[in-house]
Amino acid sequence: MAQQPTWDAVDAYFSEQLVGHDPALEAASAAADAAGLPHIAVAPNQGKLLHLLALTSGARRILEVGTLGGYSAIWLARALPAGGVLITLEIDPKHAEVARGNLARAGLERLAEVRLGRAADTLAAMVEERVEPFDLVFIDADKPSNPEYFRRALQLTRPGSLIIVDNVVRGGAVADADSTDPGVIGTRALHELVAAEPGVSATSVQTVGSKGYDGFMLARVQG
Ligand code: SAH
Ligand code: DHB
Ligand code: MG
Repeated sequence: MAQQPTWDAVDAYFSEQLVGHDPALEAASAAADAAGLPHIAVAPNQGKLLHLLALTSGARRILEVGTLGGYSAIWLARALPAGGVLITLEIDPKHAEVARGNLARAGLERLAEVRLGRAADTLAAMVEERVEPFDLVFIDADKPSNPEYFRRALQLTRPGSLIIVDNVVRGGAVADADSTDPGVIGTRALHELVAAEPGVSATSVQTVGSKGYDGFMLARVQG
Protein backbone atom coordinates (compact mmCIF):
# COMPACT_ATOMS: atom_id res chain seq x y z
CA MET A 1 0.00 0.00 0.00
CA ALA A 2 1.07 3.62 -0.61
CA GLN A 3 1.26 4.31 3.12
CA GLN A 4 3.69 1.44 3.80
CA PRO A 5 6.80 3.69 4.21
CA THR A 6 4.93 5.69 6.87
CA TRP A 7 3.76 2.51 8.63
CA ASP A 8 7.36 1.25 8.61
CA ALA A 9 8.68 4.52 10.02
CA VAL A 10 6.09 4.59 12.82
CA ASP A 11 6.74 0.96 13.76
CA ALA A 12 10.50 1.65 13.77
CA TYR A 13 9.93 4.68 16.03
CA PHE A 14 7.67 2.80 18.48
CA SER A 15 10.02 -0.18 18.58
CA GLU A 16 13.03 2.07 19.16
CA GLN A 17 11.29 3.94 22.00
CA LEU A 18 9.36 1.10 23.65
CA VAL A 19 11.22 -2.10 22.84
CA GLY A 20 14.80 -0.89 22.41
CA HIS A 21 17.95 -2.90 21.88
CA ASP A 22 17.29 -6.54 22.79
CA PRO A 23 20.22 -8.87 22.07
CA ALA A 24 18.26 -12.15 22.40
CA LEU A 25 15.53 -11.02 20.02
CA GLU A 26 18.02 -9.54 17.57
CA ALA A 27 20.02 -12.79 17.63
CA ALA A 28 16.80 -14.76 17.04
CA SER A 29 15.92 -12.66 13.99
CA ALA A 30 19.48 -12.94 12.65
CA ALA A 31 19.48 -16.73 13.07
CA ALA A 32 16.08 -17.00 11.34
CA ASP A 33 17.41 -14.87 8.46
CA ALA A 34 20.62 -16.89 8.20
CA ALA A 35 18.57 -20.10 7.97
CA GLY A 36 16.41 -18.60 5.20
CA LEU A 37 13.16 -18.54 7.19
CA PRO A 38 10.41 -16.29 5.76
CA HIS A 39 10.01 -12.79 7.23
CA ILE A 40 6.62 -13.36 8.80
CA ALA A 41 7.32 -13.24 12.55
CA VAL A 42 5.36 -10.69 14.56
CA ALA A 43 6.91 -7.20 14.61
CA PRO A 44 8.76 -6.13 17.80
CA ASN A 45 5.90 -3.93 19.01
CA GLN A 46 3.41 -6.75 18.32
CA GLY A 47 5.62 -9.21 20.18
CA LYS A 48 5.62 -6.85 23.11
CA LEU A 49 1.81 -6.69 22.98
CA LEU A 50 1.69 -10.49 23.27
CA HIS A 51 4.16 -10.28 26.18
CA LEU A 52 2.08 -7.66 28.00
CA LEU A 53 -1.16 -9.62 27.48
CA ALA A 54 0.50 -12.72 28.90
CA LEU A 55 1.91 -10.79 31.87
CA THR A 56 -1.33 -8.91 32.58
CA SER A 57 -3.39 -12.09 32.49
CA GLY A 58 -0.92 -13.83 34.78
CA ALA A 59 -0.47 -16.69 32.32
CA ARG A 60 1.46 -19.70 33.66
CA ARG A 61 0.76 -22.04 30.73
CA ILE A 62 0.94 -20.73 27.17
CA LEU A 63 0.28 -22.58 23.91
CA GLU A 64 1.44 -21.29 20.53
CA VAL A 65 0.39 -22.74 17.17
CA GLY A 66 3.05 -21.83 14.57
CA THR A 67 6.60 -21.36 15.91
CA LEU A 68 8.69 -20.25 12.90
CA GLY A 69 12.04 -19.20 14.43
CA GLY A 70 10.67 -18.73 17.93
CA TYR A 71 10.47 -14.92 17.85
CA SER A 72 6.94 -14.61 19.27
CA ALA A 73 7.67 -17.61 21.52
CA ILE A 74 10.52 -15.67 23.16
CA TRP A 75 8.22 -12.72 23.85
CA LEU A 76 5.53 -15.00 25.31
CA ALA A 77 7.88 -17.22 27.33
CA ARG A 78 9.51 -14.16 28.89
CA ALA A 79 6.16 -13.35 30.50
CA LEU A 80 6.07 -16.68 32.34
CA PRO A 81 6.79 -16.99 36.05
CA ALA A 82 9.35 -19.55 37.27
CA GLY A 83 7.83 -22.97 36.70
CA GLY A 84 5.65 -21.69 33.83
CA VAL A 85 5.32 -23.54 30.54
CA LEU A 86 5.18 -22.57 26.88
CA ILE A 87 4.47 -25.26 24.30
CA THR A 88 4.83 -24.15 20.68
CA LEU A 89 3.75 -26.30 17.73
CA GLU A 90 5.62 -26.39 14.43
CA ILE A 91 5.39 -28.61 11.33
CA ASP A 92 8.72 -27.71 9.71
CA PRO A 93 11.78 -29.45 11.23
CA LYS A 94 14.10 -26.64 10.11
CA HIS A 95 11.92 -23.99 11.74
CA ALA A 96 11.73 -26.07 14.93
CA GLU A 97 15.51 -26.45 15.05
CA VAL A 98 16.11 -22.72 14.56
CA ALA A 99 13.51 -21.96 17.24
CA ARG A 100 15.06 -24.36 19.75
CA GLY A 101 18.43 -22.66 19.26
CA ASN A 102 16.89 -19.21 19.65
CA LEU A 103 14.95 -20.14 22.80
CA ALA A 104 18.08 -21.69 24.32
CA ARG A 105 20.17 -18.59 23.53
CA ALA A 106 17.45 -16.48 25.15
CA GLY A 107 17.79 -18.59 28.31
CA LEU A 108 14.25 -19.96 27.98
CA GLU A 109 14.88 -23.63 27.27
CA ARG A 110 13.56 -24.72 30.67
CA LEU A 111 10.25 -22.92 30.10
CA ALA A 112 9.69 -23.43 26.39
CA GLU A 113 9.20 -26.63 24.41
CA VAL A 114 8.97 -26.81 20.61
CA ARG A 115 6.75 -29.73 19.58
CA LEU A 116 7.28 -30.95 16.01
CA GLY A 117 4.37 -32.19 13.90
CA ARG A 118 1.14 -31.15 12.21
CA ALA A 119 -0.62 -28.91 14.70
CA ALA A 120 -3.87 -30.77 14.01
CA ASP A 121 -2.16 -33.90 15.38
CA THR A 122 -0.20 -32.37 18.26
CA LEU A 123 -3.33 -30.50 19.42
CA ALA A 124 -5.48 -33.65 19.20
CA ALA A 125 -2.85 -35.52 21.24
CA MET A 126 -2.96 -32.89 24.00
CA VAL A 127 -6.76 -33.06 24.14
CA GLU A 128 -6.51 -36.84 24.32
CA GLU A 129 -3.94 -36.61 27.15
CA ARG A 130 -6.17 -34.14 29.04
CA VAL A 131 -3.26 -31.80 29.67
CA GLU A 132 -3.71 -29.03 32.23
CA PRO A 133 -5.57 -26.09 30.60
CA PHE A 134 -3.62 -23.26 28.99
CA ASP A 135 -4.12 -19.68 30.16
CA LEU A 136 -3.25 -18.13 26.80
CA VAL A 137 -3.20 -19.52 23.25
CA PHE A 138 -1.61 -17.72 20.28
CA ILE A 139 -2.77 -19.10 16.91
CA ASP A 140 -0.40 -18.10 14.08
CA ALA A 141 0.08 -21.01 11.66
CA ASP A 142 -1.66 -22.07 8.41
CA LYS A 143 -4.71 -19.82 8.11
CA PRO A 144 -7.10 -22.33 6.46
CA SER A 145 -6.93 -24.34 9.70
CA ASN A 146 -7.89 -21.40 11.95
CA PRO A 147 -11.36 -22.86 12.79
CA GLU A 148 -9.87 -26.23 13.74
CA TYR A 149 -7.14 -24.62 15.85
CA PHE A 150 -9.67 -22.40 17.61
CA ARG A 151 -11.94 -25.38 18.40
CA ARG A 152 -8.94 -27.24 19.80
CA ALA A 153 -7.93 -24.14 21.77
CA LEU A 154 -11.39 -24.14 23.38
CA GLN A 155 -10.85 -27.75 24.46
CA LEU A 156 -7.45 -26.84 25.91
CA THR A 157 -8.38 -23.73 27.91
CA ARG A 158 -10.51 -22.77 30.94
CA PRO A 159 -12.92 -19.93 31.73
CA GLY A 160 -10.90 -16.71 31.69
CA SER A 161 -8.27 -17.95 29.23
CA LEU A 162 -7.28 -15.73 26.30
CA ILE A 163 -7.05 -16.89 22.69
CA ILE A 164 -5.30 -14.58 20.22
CA VAL A 165 -5.37 -15.20 16.45
CA ASP A 166 -2.92 -13.39 14.15
CA ASN A 167 -3.51 -12.20 10.58
CA VAL A 168 -7.30 -12.02 10.54
CA VAL A 169 -7.49 -9.04 8.14
CA ARG A 170 -5.00 -9.75 5.33
CA GLY A 171 -5.20 -6.42 3.55
CA GLY A 172 -8.97 -6.31 4.01
CA ALA A 173 -9.65 -9.59 2.22
CA VAL A 174 -11.54 -10.93 5.25
CA ALA A 175 -14.53 -8.75 4.32
CA ASP A 176 -14.85 -10.46 0.91
CA ALA A 177 -17.55 -13.10 1.20
CA ASP A 178 -16.71 -14.32 -2.33
CA SER A 179 -13.01 -14.83 -1.69
CA THR A 180 -11.59 -18.12 -2.96
CA ASP A 181 -8.37 -17.73 -0.91
CA PRO A 182 -8.31 -20.70 1.51
CA GLY A 183 -6.76 -18.51 4.22
CA VAL A 184 -9.56 -15.96 3.94
CA ILE A 185 -12.19 -18.71 3.88
CA GLY A 186 -10.61 -20.18 7.03
CA THR A 187 -10.54 -16.84 8.82
CA ARG A 188 -14.15 -16.05 7.86
CA ALA A 189 -15.17 -19.50 9.12
CA LEU A 190 -13.33 -18.68 12.36
CA HIS A 191 -15.41 -15.53 12.81
CA GLU A 192 -18.64 -17.44 12.10
CA LEU A 193 -17.64 -20.12 14.60
CA VAL A 194 -16.87 -17.52 17.28
CA ALA A 195 -20.08 -15.61 16.55
CA ALA A 196 -22.09 -18.79 17.12
CA GLU A 197 -20.16 -19.83 20.23
CA PRO A 198 -21.82 -18.51 23.42
CA GLY A 199 -18.83 -19.56 25.50
CA VAL A 200 -16.53 -16.99 23.93
CA SER A 201 -16.44 -13.19 23.93
CA ALA A 202 -14.27 -11.87 21.12
CA THR A 203 -13.22 -8.84 19.12
CA SER A 204 -11.09 -8.38 16.03
CA VAL A 205 -8.95 -5.28 15.48
CA GLN A 206 -7.37 -3.98 12.25
CA THR A 207 -3.73 -2.94 12.40
CA VAL A 208 -1.18 -1.30 10.10
CA GLY A 209 2.57 -1.44 10.51
CA SER A 210 5.76 -2.98 9.18
CA LYS A 211 3.74 -6.12 8.37
CA GLY A 212 1.29 -4.17 6.22
CA TYR A 213 -2.46 -3.96 6.77
CA ASP A 214 -3.64 -6.86 8.93
CA GLY A 215 -5.12 -7.46 12.36
CA PHE A 216 -5.77 -9.85 15.20
CA MET A 217 -8.64 -11.48 17.06
CA LEU A 218 -8.69 -11.43 20.85
CA ALA A 219 -11.10 -13.91 22.44
CA ARG A 220 -11.87 -14.64 26.09
CA VAL A 221 -13.21 -18.00 27.14
CA GLN A 222 -16.22 -17.21 29.33
CA GLY A 223 -16.97 -18.68 32.74
N1 SAH B 1 4.48 -17.16 15.52
C1 SAH B 1 5.68 -16.94 14.72
C2 SAH B 1 5.35 -16.94 13.23
C3 SAH B 1 4.73 -18.20 12.74
S1 SAH B 1 4.72 -18.29 10.96
C4 SAH B 1 6.30 -15.60 15.11
O1 SAH B 1 5.56 -14.60 15.13
O2 SAH B 1 7.50 -15.54 15.39
C5 SAH B 1 3.74 -19.72 10.74
C6 SAH B 1 4.42 -21.04 11.12
O3 SAH B 1 3.42 -22.05 11.13
C7 SAH B 1 5.51 -21.47 10.12
O4 SAH B 1 6.70 -21.76 10.78
C8 SAH B 1 4.92 -22.74 9.51
O5 SAH B 1 5.89 -23.74 9.19
C9 SAH B 1 4.00 -23.23 10.63
N2 SAH B 1 2.94 -24.12 10.16
C10 SAH B 1 2.28 -24.09 8.97
N3 SAH B 1 1.40 -25.08 8.89
C11 SAH B 1 1.47 -25.78 10.05
C12 SAH B 1 0.82 -26.93 10.57
N4 SAH B 1 -0.11 -27.57 9.87
N5 SAH B 1 1.14 -27.36 11.79
C13 SAH B 1 2.08 -26.70 12.54
N6 SAH B 1 2.75 -25.62 12.09
C14 SAH B 1 2.45 -25.16 10.87
C1 DHB C 1 2.12 -14.90 6.70
C2 DHB C 1 1.91 -15.60 7.88
C3 DHB C 1 1.86 -14.91 9.08
O1 DHB C 1 1.63 -15.54 10.25
C4 DHB C 1 2.04 -13.54 9.11
O2 DHB C 1 1.98 -12.92 10.33
C5 DHB C 1 2.27 -12.84 7.95
C6 DHB C 1 2.32 -13.53 6.75
C7 DHB C 1 2.17 -15.64 5.42
O3 DHB C 1 2.07 -16.87 5.45
O4 DHB C 1 2.32 -14.99 4.39
MG1 MG D 1 1.28 -14.20 11.85
